[in-house]
Amino acid sequence: MRRIILPLLLVALIGALFALTEDHQYIGESKCKMCHQKQYKAWMETKHAKAFDALKAEDQGKEECLGCHNTGYKKSADLLKNVQCEACHGPGSDYKDMKVMKDKEKAIAAGLIITTEETCKMCHNEKSPTFKGFNFEEAKKTGVHAVKSE
Ligand code: HEC
Ligand code: HEC
Ligand code: HEC
Ligand code: HEC
Repeated sequence: MRRIILPLLLVALIGALFALTEDHQYIGESKCKMCHQKQYKAWMETKHAKAFDALKAEDQGKEECLGCHNTGYKKSADLLKNVQCEACHGPGSDYKDMKVMKDKEKAIAAGLIITTEETCKMCHNEKSPTFKGFNFEEAKKTGVHAVKSE
């Protein structure tokens, strides 16, 4: 019996691992804009919407600068410039459909990230040449559309 169960367990484990690492694709801000006009407008006023432009021309080609000033760098075929929606909310290919989006649990299962301080710290950390510390509560006031609007 054991001889059968063990390989079966192994197959199940590998399957689960694949499901976990299943790649959701980045689709770009324009797709989110269609349904989230309000957040889009407010986001446009944050520095994140111009994070790529903040790099000097000579730095825009530098590998070591691109990761945090763009979205899904190297995980997307196109260079998605600036810190877009999906940099904080996760790649949207599998949650963008209305029927998934409407159901928060489903959306999360499909890759939607509920943004926390840790999400910000993927970029706001000492690897940034201009880093001077990061205060989440303060940074939320001007860095996040959602809190800023209304
Ligand atoms: C077809 C329309 C549609 C598209 C496209 C869409 N959304 Fe949504 N989204 C919704 C709806 C509907 C909700 C449910 C809550 C609401 O009414 O705003 C939602 C909820 C959300 C939430 C809130 C989740 C929560 O409950 O805390 C986030 C964050 C979000 N969307 C981000 C995105 C991002 C990022 C994209 C682009 C990758 C995107 N959405 C694309 C319709 C859409
Ligand atoms: C680990 C992520 C990360 C990397 C890598 C990174 N940056 Fe940034 N950069 C940030 C963040 C976050 C900010 C916002 C300010 C801060 O906390 O540093 C920023 C801000 C900036 C600014 C605006 C500063 C200001 O005062 O408005 C410039 C210019 C800049 N970075 C240039 C660069 C250059 C050049 C490189 C490559 C040598 C680089 N960054 C690499 C995350 C990063
Ligand atoms: C710098 C990170 C960041 C970026 C970039 C960002 N968001 Fe958010 N967003 C948040 C945080 C934080 C919240 C509140 C917690 C949560 O629901 O994830 C939020 C909440 C939301 C919500 C829930 C409703 C609300 O307003 O609170 C929607 C919808 C949403 N974002 C859509 C978008 C869209 C569309 C974009 C791009 C135009 C975008 N976000 C860009 C951080 C971000
Ligand atoms: C993908 C990387 C990335 C993520 C994730 C990210 N940021 Fe940023 N953030 C940046 C970069 C790059 C800049 C610099 C843009 C510029 O100066 O033009 C910046 C700038 C800012 C600024 C303006 C800083 C200043 O000195 O004026 C605030 C505030 C901010 N971010 C808050 C947040 C918050 C809050 C979160 C999480 C909810 C977050 N960021 C997530 C990369 C990121």
